[in-house]
Order: sequence, then structure tokens, then C-alpha cells
Amino acid sequence: MSGFGRRVVVVGAAALVLSVPRPGSAQIPDEFTNLKVPPEDIEQRDLLNVMRGFSIGLDVRCTYCHVGEEGQPLSTYDFASDEKPEKRKAREMMRMVNHINETVLTALPDRSEPNVSVTCATCHAGRPRPSSLEEEMMWAYEDGGVEALTRRYRELRERYYGLGTLNFGSAPLDNVAQMLGGPPRQDLEAALAVTDLNLEYHPDSGTTLTLRGQALAGLGRTDEAIRSLERALELNPRNRFAERLLQQLRGGG
Ligand code: HEC
Ligand code: HEC
Repeated sequence: MSGFGRRVVVVGAAALVLSVPRPGSAQIPDEFTNLKVPPEDIEQRDLLNVMRGFSIGLDVRCTYCHVGEEGQPLSTYDFASDEKPEKRKAREMMRMVNHINETVLTALPDRSEPNVSVTCATCHAGRPRPSSLEEEMMWAYEDGGVEALTRRYRELRERYYGLGTLNFGSAPLDNVAQMLGGPPRQDLEAALAVTDLNLEYHPDSGTTLTLRGQALAGLGRTDEAIRSLERALELNPRNRFAERLLQQLRGGG
């Protein structure tokens, strides 16, 4: 039946999470006056499941989108109001998700079975804004340099590690180190600090040790660069890049 009920909600497992308010039906009108995304005649229970899916997918409360006061009964909320921009953005997101599921994915050639559908959680994964770790790091850096970046990384890790929200493997910080060390920024000190941060959590990442060696070499700290590259080669004897750089550094003295 309802594309709304089925496809957008598919947050299914979401309903298991207990921290989201489970409004009693009595507290919420069962006639809806401002639904713009079909179907308009959705059952109250189905609509509330969709709404819980939103709350869980973005890890927010109803008041993130709706006019109402935390701690007050839901009967005092004005759910129909479009005052909050978050609600208006969420509505566009609903249209986007429906379009993806109903038009784009159904037209995939040789679509695999069983189907996978897109939900809010596919992108948001438990955050109101689905930024990548790389984006978060570069924003923090532009704001307050490598100290702000480091603080932000630890903060995000503390909050989200293990939840599948952000990638805390070694790759994102490797990318950030390359973005900082390369043009146009060429901030080798920052690139070095980022590789050190990464190695705290991933001491055996060959790529990180190689990038660290590269930053150290660029800073003229040749002995340390050599040690870092040697360690990278120990971990992966086929790391051609580390090998070549090492030769250059040894040759050049
Ligand atoms: C991420 C934003 C977001 C969150 C969080 C959210 N909603 Fe909504 N809600 C919407 C949008 C968007 C609509 C309008 C959908 C449409 O236009 O078809 C809506 C519509 C509603 C309506 C229908 C209002 C009417 O009369 O038209 C109710 C009731 C409602 N939400 C309840 C809730 C409850 C209860 C929660 C918390 C569990 C919640 N919502 C969480 C975005 C949100
Ligand atoms: C394909 C990925 C994707 C899906 C699926 C998706 N979103 Fe988003 N959403 C985004 C991106 C990207 C942004 C940030 C856009 C920006 O501000 O640059 C965003 C922003 C938002 C915002 C505004 C946040 C803010 O602080 O400005 C809301 C609210 C939101 N999404 C709700 C939803 C809801 C509800 C769903 C499910 C119906 C959903 N999104 C599904 C990618 C997605």
C-alpha cells in the first residue's frame, strides 16, 4: 500500500530504539491538515512510524522539526506548522527519497534481489547533517587550525565510534593529511600532526606511516622520515612509494 508507510519508513529496525518518544495516539490529532507528500490519507499509526524513523535516522527529537516545547505534552505541539526550516527541508528530503526509491531504483537494469531501499538513515546514519569525516576535519581546520581539527576528531570519535555513523578507519585521516600537505595549502606541519593523530589509533597503517615520512621529509627532518618509511616498508615490503622515497632520502643524505 502506502509508498509513504512502506518505503520511506523502512527504517523498520529503528522502531526498536527506545530513546525516541512513542507518542500515545491520544496526544496527536488523527486528522492531518498539512501533509504535502502523498498519501494524505495515511493512518495515524503509519505516520507516527515514519516520524519515529526520521527521529532515529537523524538522532533528533520531534522538536527538531516541529513547533513544541520539550517536556510539554505532545498535545501542545503544533505539528501542522511549517515554521521550522528543518521541517521544510525534511519535506524536500522525503520527496527526494521517494523519487530515488520509486523512480531511480525501480528503473535499475538487472536490479539485484532482494531489493535495498534508501531511507533517511542511509545517508544520515544518526546525524542531522550527514557530513563526512573529511568534511568535518577540513571545516575544523579552516576554523581553528590543526588544534581544532584534533579536538573535533576526538569529540566525534567519542560520540560516534562503533555506531557506523562515520568512518574511523585510517583512510579518512590519510585523505585529510594529503589535502593539508598538498597544494594549495601545503601545510606540512598540519599534515604531520594529522598522521600522528591517525597513528595513535592505527599504529600499523602503512599508508599513514608513508604519508608521515613524506611530511617529515618535506620539513627537512630526514632521519625521522627514514625511520617512518622503514617501518612502513616492514609492514608492507611492496610499498613502492615508500621504497623510492627512502632511496632518495638515503641517497641525498
Ligand atoms: C526531520 C524532521 C521531522 C522530525 C524529527 C519529525 N517530523 Fe513530523 N513531520 C515532518 C514533516 C516534513 C512533515 C510533513 C510531511 C508532509 O508534508 O507530507 C511532518 C508531519 C507530521 C505530522 C502531521 C501534521 C499535520 O497535521 O499535517 C505529525 C502529527 C507529526 N509530523 C508528528 C511527529 C512526531 C510525533 C515526531 C517525533 C516522534 C515527529 N513528527 C518528528 C518532519 C519531521
Ligand atoms: C541521499 C542522501 C540523503 C538522504 C537519503 C536523506 N538526506 Fe537529509 N540531507 C542530506 C544532505 C547531504 C544534507 C545536507 C545538505 C546541506 O546542508 O549541505 C541533508 C540535510 C537534511 C536536513 C537539514 C539539516 C540541517 O541542519 O540543515 C534535514 C532536516 C534532513 N536532511 C532530513 C532528512 C530526512 C527526514 C530524510 C528521510 C526522509 C533524509 N534527510 C534523507 C542527504 C540525505
